[in-house]
Amino acid sequence: MTTVYISRDSGALSLGAEQVAAALRAEAAKRNIHCNLVRNGSRGMYWLEPLVEVATDRGRIAYGPVRVRDVPSLFEADFLQGGSHPLRLGPTDEIPYFKNQERLTFARVGATDPVSLEDYLTYEGYRGLRRALDMAPSAIVDEVTNSGLRGRGGAAFPTGIKWRTVLNTPSDIKYIVCNADEGDSGTFSDRMIMEGDPFVLIEGMTIAGLAVGAAQGYIYLRVEYPHAHRALTEAIEAAYRSGYLGKDILGSGKRFDLEVRLGAGAYVCGEETSLLESLEGKRGLVRFKPPLPAIEGLFGQPTVINNVISLASVPIILDKGGEYYRDYGMGRSRGTLPIQLAGNIKYPGLIEKAFGVTLREILYDYGGGSASGRPIRAVQVGGPLGAYLPESRFDTPLDYEAFSAIWAVLGHGGVVAFDDTVDMARMARYGMEFCAVESCGKCTPCRIGSTRGVEVIDKIMSGIDREKNLVLLRDLSDTLLNGSLCALGGMTPYPVLSALNHFPEDFGVSAAEKVA
Ligand SMILES: Cc1cc2nc3c(=O)[nH]c(=O)nc-3n(C[C@H](O)[C@H](O)[C@H](O)COP(=O)(O)O)c2cc1C
Ligand code: SF4
Repeated sequence: MTTVYISRDSGALSLGAEQVAAALRAEAAKRNIHCNLVRNGSRGMYWLEPLVEVATDRGRIAYGPVRVRDVPSLFEADFLQGGSHPLRLGPTDEIPYFKNQERLTFARVGATDPVSLEDYLTYEGYRGLRRALDMAPSAIVDEVTNSGLRGRGGAAFPTGIKWRTVLNTPSDIKYIVCNADEGDSGTFSDRMIMEGDPFVLIEGMTIAGLAVGAAQGYIYLRVEYPHAHRALTEAIEAAYRSGYLGKDILGSGKRFDLEVRLGAGAYVCGEETSLLESLEGKRGLVRFKPPLPAIEGLFGQPTVINNVISLASVPIILDKGGEYYRDYGMGRSRGTLPIQLAGNIKYPGLIEKAFGVTLREILYDYGGGSASGRPIRAVQVGGPLGAYLPESRFDTPLDYEAFSAIWAVLGHGGVVAFDDTVDMARMARYGMEFCAVESCGKCTPCRIGSTRGVEVIDKIMSGIDREKNLVLLRDLSDTLLNGSLCALGGMTPYPVLSALNHFPEDFGVSAAEKVA
C-alpha cells in the first residue's frame, strides 16, 4: 500500500495541513483507493506547506503547497505513483534548500512518524542511549565535552563542562531540566523537534541522566505549544511502554523518569533560574547566582538545565562519537546550528547548517531575498534581545565569536529579516518596551530603566532635545548593560544601540554625523 505523508507540525497545520489530509482521505475513499496516511514532522520548507510526500521506489516525491482544491487533480495525475502535476517538486531529498543542509539533529524530522517508536528505531534512534548504557558516567561526559557542543539556548556555555559540574557535585537527588520555553521572536526549532522527533529529546535527556547520575527529568514547556505537548506525551508513554524510560531502562537496572510541566508563558521564565522558580510552583523571578543551578538547582539539588536543541544533539554525539560532531563547524563553534529564517523573507523555514555559513548565504541562497522583493535592510539575529545588523555585516559567518566581534549574538539561531521600509527607531523603541513589559522586576536598571528608556526614545523620535536625549539613552543603556541581574536587562541595549549605531538616520541623526 502506498504511504503518503502530510505534516502534523503546527506551522503546516496553520497553513491547512489538517484539511488537506482530510480531503486526501475522502478522495481516496471515493475512488476506492487504499493508501497509508502518515502525519510526519515538517521538512522545514514552510513556503511549501502543506507539503504532501508520496513514498515511491524512486524515493519520496514531494508536491506542494497543496490546497484542498488541488486534491482531485493530484489523484487524476496519479500522484500515488509520483505522477507529474504542476505542484510536483520532485524527490524531497533533491530540493536544493533541503539538500544543501547538514542535518544532524534534525536528521529524522519530516522523515518519520514522530510518535512511532518503531520509526525512531528504524531511523537509527536509541543507538546513542544503547552505547551510553555501557559507558561510565564520566566517559559519557567526556564524549559530550569532546564534541565541542555549546548550549544552543543562547549563552553558548560548553555543555560538557556543565554536566561535569553536576556529575562532580555529590547528592542523592539530581535533576535534568529541559528548557522548552522558546520565547525568542522568530525561533521555532525547539518546537519543530518536539513536534517532529520527540524521541530524540527524550533520548538526549535519558543520556544526560546517565551521565550525571540523575533519575528524574522535567521538560518545562510553554503552554502555547499544545501540539508539542501532545507529541511529547505520546512519545513519553511509548518510551515507558517499551522500557526506554522508567526504573529499569532496557534491563540495565538504571532508572530515568520524565515528565512534561507547562509554563504559563512569560519570556523571563526561559531564563534558567527563573524557570526553576516557576517549576517549583513559584512566581518566575530571577535568582542570584551563585550558587549555579549545576550545584543548587531545582529544589536545591544539582541540576543540568539545557535547551531542547542542546539535549537533542546528544544522541548523535553518543552514537557517532564526539569527533564526528566536532568535525562540523568553525573555530570554537562546533557541530551544526538549526537556523530559523523568518520575517520579510521569500523562503522562510528551518535550515540546519554547520557553523560558518554566512548571513548572506542564509538570506539569499536559502531565503531567496525579501518576500516583498525590496532590498533587505536589516536582520535581527538571536531573538528580541539580539542586535540589528545592516547589509555591511551580512558576510559575517555564523560563529559565536565572529558575532561577538561585531557586538552581536547568535542566540538561539533565529534570523528575522526586514526590508527597506522598516523604521529602525521604532524597532529600537520596541526592544526597550519589550524589556519593560517582560521584566521580572527584581532589579532596578531593568524594571525602571526600561520604562524611562521608552520615554527617552519617544522624545528622540519626536525631536525633543535630541542631542541630550541621545546621550541619556547611551547612559541608560550602559547602566542596563552593566547593572542588570540577568541578560534580559543586560541585553536590551543590543537591539537599541545597534539600531542607533547602524541606522542613525532613522533617529533623525545624519549618517555622516558622529553619534554622541
Ligand atoms: C530572559 C531570558 C530568556 C531565556 N529564554 C530561554 C529559552 O526560552 N530557552 C532556552 O533554552 N534558554 C533561554 N535562555 C537561556 C537560559 O537562561 C539558559 O542559558 C539555557 O537554558 C541553558 O541551556 P543551554 O546551555 O543548553 O543553552 C534565556 C535567558 C534569558 C536571560
Ligand atoms: S534584568 Fe530584568 S528580568 Fe533580569 S533580574 Fe533584573 S529585573 Fe528581572
